[in-house]
Amino acid sequence: MVVTPGTFFEREVRQQRGFTVADKMQVLDIISKKRDGGELSEAEIEFLISKYVAGEIPDYQMAAFLMATFIRGMTRLETVALTKAMAHSGEILDLSAVPGCKVDKHSTGGVGDKVTLVVAPLVAAAGVPLAKMSGRGLGHSGGTIDKLEAIPGFQSVLSKGEFIANVERIGLALTGQRENLAPADKKIYALRDVTATVASIPLIASSIMSKKIAAGANAIVLDVKCGSGAFIPDLDGARALAKAMVDIGTDVGRHTVAVISNMDQPLGKAVGNALEVKEALMTLENKGPADVTRLSLILGGLMLFLAGKVEDPHLGEQVLKNILATGGARQKFREFVATQGGTVRVLDNPALLPSAPFKLPVLAPATGYIAKLRADIIGRTSMALGAGRRKKDDSIDRAVGIVLEGKIGDYVQEGQLLAVVHAGNENTGREAVGQVLRAYSIVPRPVAPPPLIYEVI
Ligand code: URA
Repeated sequence: MVVTPGTFFEREVRQQRGFTVADKMQVLDIISKKRDGGELSEAEIEFLISKYVAGEIPDYQMAAFLMATFIRGMTRLETVALTKAMAHSGEILDLSAVPGCKVDKHSTGGVGDKVTLVVAPLVAAAGVPLAKMSGRGLGHSGGTIDKLEAIPGFQSVLSKGEFIANVERIGLALTGQRENLAPADKKIYALRDVTATVASIPLIASSIMSKKIAAGANAIVLDVKCGSGAFIPDLDGARALAKAMVDIGTDVGRHTVAVISNMDQPLGKAVGNALEVKEALMTLENKGPADVTRLSLILGGLMLFLAGKVEDPHLGEQVLKNILATGGARQKFREFVATQGGTVRVLDNPALLPSAPFKLPVLAPATGYIAKLRADIIGRTSMALGAGRRKKDDSIDRAVGIVLEGKIGDYVQEGQLLAVVHAGNENTGREAVGQVLRAYSIVPRPVAPPPLIYEVI
């Protein structure tokens, strides 16, 4: 179809000040080029993103572009160009005042994933500055900021000055997402959410990496979750996403490594904000669940390696193991909480953290081996109890959640405790018990626990 600028375009252009007929034609050319499988230039992508953020390109045209991208995919060059355009649509944090290589860590989102609470103080205690922006939970996966806000007084939103000053002073700062960080991603993500274009590798990779690049760290360790509770359930998809993000990081000059980790069952035992803080405190005391400790050491070892602190990631793990054993990570967490206004008393006495009034046991319906513990069902059940949000502005209950006593591979006898539901009221608690039972399957034959890590890219 040949489109010529006629009166329709002229009328539209009069309504869009600063947007010429040539601009309008260029948008159509870009959309049709992507629709037909062509490769867009950096200039074309930059034009599209900057004009969209400026409000000069309407949502319906961006939606068409996103769907064309969803179907056709993007080359490495295009994905990098899209990431850069989104990162530069807002402020890029300058962390150069902080000496040394600054590292960041990102998880693509899981259930019971409290690793940031452990790995951040661990790595900072090893002398590698960590400057991290974290999100709130949305849907069935939790967010680090929601967990930290279970600590009374904790300030989760820092100004740019406070953020940089804290990294300089104690080597660690965590803040909620700043408004002006990759605003293009914010606008495009909202549109993807309502146009069935979320689950696209180049769109996810550029969305995540644009925010990481804008947040200013020199090195990035990515934890790409794979399994029933993850955004991308299959290993091939997780691999493709991990590779796309590592390629972007490499092409923009950030040391980037991705770990693909299992999310078929929740990580650790605790799911829910205050419950996860308690478990993170146990892990910082070297008494946490084996999977949380191991994943924290692996990710942390890679962070030390990328920061040039050790010659290989395994040495990094050894360094961190010692810090964990000697209480250094717990001490750094304490310093971090105090610096961000939190009540450190609760760290010594976790019973002071928010606690749910109803605790309902979930008992094994049969004798046998746990073959499944569906992370997606546990995540959704925790959300239904009030620990997570369905919509961005929902309020949450930091006390509620689920503690899983049985994990995949465990042998249980009928009537044995599988889990405990922590609920705000008895009715939602009872419903949650039914859902938790649905998440488990018990079989007569032994089952091997799934691997924690699939691969490192
Ligand atoms: N997280 C993001 O930040 N962006 C996506 O597209 C998906 C998950």
